[in-house]
Amino acid sequence: MDRIIVRGSGPLRGEVAVSGSKNSCLALMAATLLAPGETVLTNVPRLRDVDAMLEILRALGARAEWEGEGAHSVRIDASRIHNPEAPYELVRKMRASFLVLGPLLARCGTARVSEPGGCAIGVRPVDQHLKGFEALGAKLQLDHGYVDASAVKLTGARIAFDISTVNGTQNVMMAACLADGETVLENAAREPEVVELAEFLLKMGADVRGGGTDRISIRGVSRLRAVRHRVAGDRIEAGTLLGAAVATQGDICVQGVDPAHLESTLDKFRECGAEIETRPTEVRLRMPQRPRAVRVVTAPFPGFATDMQAQLMAVLCVAEGSSVVTERVFENRFMHVPELQRMGADIHKEGACAIIRGVDRLCGTDVMASDLRAGAALVIAGLAAEGQTIVHRVYHIDRGYESIETKLSAVGAAIHRESVETVVAKAA
Ligand code: EPU
Repeated sequence: MDRIIVRGSGPLRGEVAVSGSKNSCLALMAATLLAPGETVLTNVPRLRDVDAMLEILRALGARAEWEGEGAHSVRIDASRIHNPEAPYELVRKMRASFLVLGPLLARCGTARVSEPGGCAIGVRPVDQHLKGFEALGAKLQLDHGYVDASAVKLTGARIAFDISTVNGTQNVMMAACLADGETVLENAAREPEVVELAEFLLKMGADVRGGGTDRISIRGVSRLRAVRHRVAGDRIEAGTLLGAAVATQGDICVQGVDPAHLESTLDKFRECGAEIETRPTEVRLRMPQRPRAVRVVTAPFPGFATDMQAQLMAVLCVAEGSSVVTERVFENRFMHVPELQRMGADIHKEGACAIIRGVDRLCGTDVMASDLRAGAALVIAGLAAEGQTIVHRVYHIDRGYESIETKLSAVGAAIHRESVETVVAKAA
């Protein structure tokens, strides 16, 4: 297990480019199952989760490979799917694997996919995905932890989601592309990753309208084609890097991201005191003083993203005044709190709220990443802390950040990774 060593070393300065969006990319990869032929995705982040999705696609019978060592593009040829089953060993590694169910059902008329189960941040049921498939006419059976789905032909329907769900909207949207007739998704998620998937499906020949609104309509077509597509920049990675600049009173420019995708994050950073300028594909942030305390409540897009909650909390730990962070999307997404407390943060948790009284200084120590965004938060805290912070269980961070230490070093952070071998050699 690698670990990341961070030293508080003053303001971050410089320019840094973000990678392609993890969450967009995973959905697009699942969508390649809808069409025969070779899809090429570019600007693909080199992440553990992308590798996990490639592995799943291969298990289903597709050819799915990186274009080369260190490349940022993948080629996926789903002309032949010989085994529409995603087993537990693969799905448990990454919940987003459940996204193959919709495309498999639409393309093959049958699919068997392991239920993903809960994870560190909450129970995360998939009932809304299943409700959508059933409405489209699929027969579903839950069998020893697997969802067995079949349909002679899916038929368009009106589906009103009970809650806003990103992957649920995406999964049902993909299935509906090859259904007979029109499907209307009400209370659809409006996240940029849903919009990008809708655009990708359009390119493939689907008839999808209303992406980015809460009402998406899809007219089924008989076949789709494989395409080439560049994955949009990762709004959460961008927000995380900007958060690191806010915490260290830095001045950085983050490139390769659409500022419209992170408006709610930028609004909060402005409230903290940051000066922000945006251009079509970049954000420049200057933080002239210690951050000010803010109140924030997570919500579906365009609200404040739950995927930025932990990182903002790390910033607020060193803010002037008391902040309140309320997590409304997931029920257990405060795993970073005890670790931040170990670094000297003054946080009081009450149900879905955390009250953070800003301290003058955090102090570096050993901390453990419990999930992806919690891990990123600890890195930010380490950059704002006195002394050295060692973040353990870095594999969580590697699920969603391509070499976070390289990106942060580029803007002057004192950060490096120690691989297992180095750690063992040091101990010997
Ligand atoms: N939910 C249900 N039933 C469902 C589906 C969702 O009750 O059938 C609940 C969830 O338990 C949660 C809420 O609805 O309380 C919203 O969950 P959503 O379905 O929107 O989340 P997701 O699609 O499973 C994606 C991202 C997450 C991100 C959320 C919210 C991917 C692969 N994952 O998950 O990303 O937090 O949307 O924006 O797209 C991350 O990148 O760190 C991450 C966790």
